[in-house]
Amino acid sequence: MTRNPSPAFFALGLGALVVSVLLGNLALLSFELPQWLRDVLPFRMLRPMHVSLAVGWLFAGIIGFVYYALRELTGRPLPHRWLWVHWAGYALVGLAIMTAYTVNIYGGREYWAFPPVLATAILALWLFFGGVLIRYGRHIQRTHCCEDTGHFTRWPTYWWMWLTGWIFFTFTFIETYLWMFPFWGKTVVRDITVQWKAQGALVGSWNMFLYGTSLYLMAHTAGGRRVACSPVGWWLYLLGLVNLIFGWAHHVYPVPNATWIRGLAYAVSMTELIVLARMIAQWRQSSTPPDASAFHGTLRWLHTTERWIFVNLILAIAISVPVVNLYTHGTHFTVAHAMGTTIGINTPILLAALFYVLEKEGRRLSAGFARHSVRMFNVGLAFFWAGFLLAGAVKAYYGWGKGLEWAVYRHKVGNALWVSYAASFLLIYVFIRIAWRAWRAASRPVVPAVKPEVEEEAIP
Ligand code: HEM
Repeated sequence: MTRNPSPAFFALGLGALVVSVLLGNLALLSFELPQWLRDVLPFRMLRPMHVSLAVGWLFAGIIGFVYYALRELTGRPLPHRWLWVHWAGYALVGLAIMTAYTVNIYGGREYWAFPPVLATAILALWLFFGGVLIRYGRHIQRTHCCEDTGHFTRWPTYWWMWLTGWIFFTFTFIETYLWMFPFWGKTVVRDITVQWKAQGALVGSWNMFLYGTSLYLMAHTAGGRRVACSPVGWWLYLLGLVNLIFGWAHHVYPVPNATWIRGLAYAVSMTELIVLARMIAQWRQSSTPPDASAFHGTLRWLHTTERWIFVNLILAIAISVPVVNLYTHGTHFTVAHAMGTTIGINTPILLAALFYVLEKEGRRLSAGFARHSVRMFNVGLAFFWAGFLLAGAVKAYYGWGKGLEWAVYRHKVGNALWVSYAASFLLIYVFIRIAWRAWRAASRPVVPAVKPEVEEEAIP
């Protein structure tokens, strides 16, 4: 019988992450590169390559983990052959996207800068993934949602989050291509409104998957299964859902919109992060310290997420205030927000998931390795992020009526970015080291798998 391809999805994702950060590093200071290198690797090519690969990492990790979790939750073998077809399709589409960028064929928008025809392949693979999620979700054992709590559904919150994330991604992914139809594409205001709305909701849909994943990890390591059926878990789900429906509104200040929708969107998107941070904080207090736990890697990466949620929350609250947004929109503040959340929140959750799979499969990495990796990651990201904020501040300050020549202005912004550039080497080192050590661990003989220390401990 063929093996579950979850680890192969992680391997693909980590490969995409490493190439992505290397290209991001080139893109960061591309204006300082020698002309010949800039001709070969222009910023307009490096940026979409970097962003597509980063998004590729997020989805490969999400899909790989959901397949792994479904096997654990149902106790049944999944249709491995078909999952491998999914894996091969995912790799081929990724390759096609990179090839298209390399030969200068674009045609898409924002995160989907590749030719739109490739979107049909992505959609087909995504529908297959949803089919597996729903079909096997039906067999999730009752024990995963504590019957004694009188829980009204047999499915834990994380499964609802994955399902909801899947439905919303399908919808918004299609929405991002509405510009191809004249009714939307030929009217500027309608086009911009739909684009910004869809891109905002798209991020919300992958966040739903990641919140579900962090709940799963808490429930299956040191938190006890009840965490996945607790009232706080349901609050997080409901807030995430309202955020998916309205959260995009705080991205579209420049286009007409009802004030109450903006207000609600602003309030909900911030509350959602607060609830997630609170859950992790509570879970951390009630769980074993990482070094004493068999799941030390998983715990460390999840704890890190909590810190970065707070840091990103402060920035998000600040740049969402309309008058501040007027200055920061389109500057490196926005990039700091996008990368602060994808690197600081999404990536550690997926790394926690990766460590969980390794730990469960008896291929765990040492506690010291996890500790050092997390420390280097935090230091690297702190400087990387601060550099972008500095560049954003410089851009916002000089961009408003100072009458500077473009070259002088560019030079000032570029100076601030040196901080991020230097810090990016540390992040690149951390990611390469994790990818390499995970690969080596996956290829060595298995040591006995570990079990959660606490099965039924409740979180209030
Ligand atoms: C550590 C090395 C990294 C470097 C040097 C880097 C560099 C860059 C650069 C130069 C841009 C374009 C900024 C602009 O348009 O002015 C960018 C955008 C972006 N990067 Fe990174 N990046 C890194 C890591 C990552 C990682 C690990 C992720 C996600 C997992 C990520 C996600 C993104 C996203 C989503 C954007 C688009 C931001 C937007 O919408 O404005 N980056 N990055």
